[in-house]
Amino acid sequence: MAGPAIENLFREGRSFPPPPEFTAQANAADPAIYEQAEADWQGWWASQAERLRWFKTWDTVLEWKAPHAKWFLGGRLNVSDNCLDRHVDDGQGDQVAYHWEAESGERRTITYAQLKDEVCRFANGLKRLGVSRGDRVAIYLPMIPELPVAMLACARIGAIHSVVFAGFSSQALVDRIDDADARAVITADGAYRKGSVIPLKQSADTAMDNTDRVRTCVVVRRTGEDIDFTDGRDHWYHDIIADESAECPPEPMDAEDVLYILYTSGTTGKPKGIVHTTGGYLTQVAATQRLVFDLKPDTDVYWCAADIGWVTGHSYIVYGPLANRATSVLYEGAPDHPGRDRFWEIVERYRVTILYTAPTAIRSFMKWGPDLPAAHDMTSLRLLGSVGEPINPEAWMWYAEHIGGRRCPVVDTWWQTETGAIMITPLPGLTATKPGSAMRSFPGIKAVVVDEQGQAVEPGGGGYLTLQRPWPGMLRTLWGDDERYRLTYWSRFGEDVYFAGDGAKLDEDGHVWLLGRVDDVMNVSGHRISTTEVESALVDHPAVAEAAVSGRKDEMTGQAIAAFVTLRGDRQGDERLASELRQHVAERIGKIARPANILFTPDLPKTRSGKIMRRLLKDIAEGRELGDVTTLANSDIVSELKQRSTAATEGE
Ligand code: WT7
Repeated sequence: MAGPAIENLFREGRSFPPPPEFTAQANAADPAIYEQAEADWQGWWASQAERLRWFKTWDTVLEWKAPHAKWFLGGRLNVSDNCLDRHVDDGQGDQVAYHWEAESGERRTITYAQLKDEVCRFANGLKRLGVSRGDRVAIYLPMIPELPVAMLACARIGAIHSVVFAGFSSQALVDRIDDADARAVITADGAYRKGSVIPLKQSADTAMDNTDRVRTCVVVRRTGEDIDFTDGRDHWYHDIIADESAECPPEPMDAEDVLYILYTSGTTGKPKGIVHTTGGYLTQVAATQRLVFDLKPDTDVYWCAADIGWVTGHSYIVYGPLANRATSVLYEGAPDHPGRDRFWEIVERYRVTILYTAPTAIRSFMKWGPDLPAAHDMTSLRLLGSVGEPINPEAWMWYAEHIGGRRCPVVDTWWQTETGAIMITPLPGLTATKPGSAMRSFPGIKAVVVDEQGQAVEPGGGGYLTLQRPWPGMLRTLWGDDERYRLTYWSRFGEDVYFAGDGAKLDEDGHVWLLGRVDDVMNVSGHRISTTEVESALVDHPAVAEAAVSGRKDEMTGQAIAAFVTLRGDRQGDERLASELRQHVAERIGKIARPANILFTPDLPKTRSGKIMRRLLKDIAEGRELGDVTTLANSDIVSELKQRSTAATEGE
């Protein structure tokens, strides 16, 4: 993978060692953790598992019959027992589990004891409604406390939850209900989004009209509007819990019993049901929460600003924090409602110490300017995290400076729905971080960058990211489709090598730089250029707020680079600025990386989870018909983008 490269970024040699005060108090303060884990990785994971409460300890740490792993065989535990009862039994029932804040400003504080009671009541209610161990329950709820309650209630009785992001359509819900054969649905009458009401129950009704699988539907009253009720099937949540006891013994689950299914999109139209189990998953989310986020249960206020509908929320709003007895912020709304300083207001109010968010959010904050965070007291913050896509060094630096006040380590954490928990990351008390790099494997994890033939590349080389050892939080299979599981992840480089689908480079120190999905790597005149590299270069220009880059077919060069650019403030794009940006990219990376087309746009098309829809951009850039854009958060800009694209090409 020769050619123009991210080398320019490496050469800057920017590296930020952890502040000594941070290391002095860090949960991971001794660099020997890496060697210890390496010397006996199974034993190291077992020592992490021992921190949980087991009804029965395991007989075997790992059984690995590639590509199938079983962790902590013979062990029995319950996830909700670990997340709730354990802390209440320790005398910590009065500690706040969640500071919930609604978009409207409504607030609720929930202690561990209260959360346990509510989970038990709902668990009893679910049992009364006929839900039992092993049954699948679809959960279609907004970011309200009843969402973690419903997940934990399922975990308590051994039912398998399948959370469907509340921003998804009824079609997405029915597909997931059918695939998992879910017999119960938990939803709400409505959800709030930027001041308006989204009729969630109506959407669930449409889904349930299109399948005959659902026997029971529990509805949380949230917005209070009129909804249709189907007798015998539908029940109010508040009625269900009203008469139930707050005692519900946790079901002793086998370590390998399924905890949940979470669907994620693959290369085909049919989403993949990622299957996570109990003991290994909880071990890894708990260990990473403690060591990567340096969580101190007595003093920290932790906030992961994702939605629980995605894996980030499953692992780092619900299971990881609760397993560690964290006090968390649970926020329902958007970052720009009612004001663009909503996040900073929340940080200030709750004295948040640890913030975990996504590069796309950070770039929005950059676009809105540093005055908004500067107007709030954010000195409580001591650690920042990033997840979801490669973070461009400029956004990293902005985050560290304007949010972290140059005081907070930044952890860029690479993982996937499939991995269940963080895999590649700095440890904040140990790692000298480099803006833009996720750095190295978490202890016990073996991430390897390989070439086409599956050979590990040397420092300085690039290729495909693989995982060459099973890990406790790994997906066990795809729900109902083990063949697809083998094919998607374990066929490209052999049965015991997990292919992550991401491109990556190693710098001269052997640190990992993620380059985006391999399908996002462009090939221009035989040179491989990552969309991320070009985006980083563009965003590095003072006029640029956000950029998305896509390869498009080109007769001469194989692919040419199309760039979609949003500008800061009121700046307008014109031909002069476009050529300035091309020149800037040329200076930053090399002439080869100069975009052939630059399209200025007020916004970029994104999925509801905030990922830029590069495939759609590619379609626009190549002038093809657009596909399904219903999941766009901002679909109105698509037609505009398309028009501008046509204009830009005609003007050439
Ligand atoms: C894909 C997984 C893991 C929670 C959110 C996304 C990309 C994720 C990073 C990072 C570079 C990243 C990868 C990965 N990704 N984190 N820190 N640096 N890329 O979960 O929806 O399963 O997506 O997100 O491309 O494969 P997901």
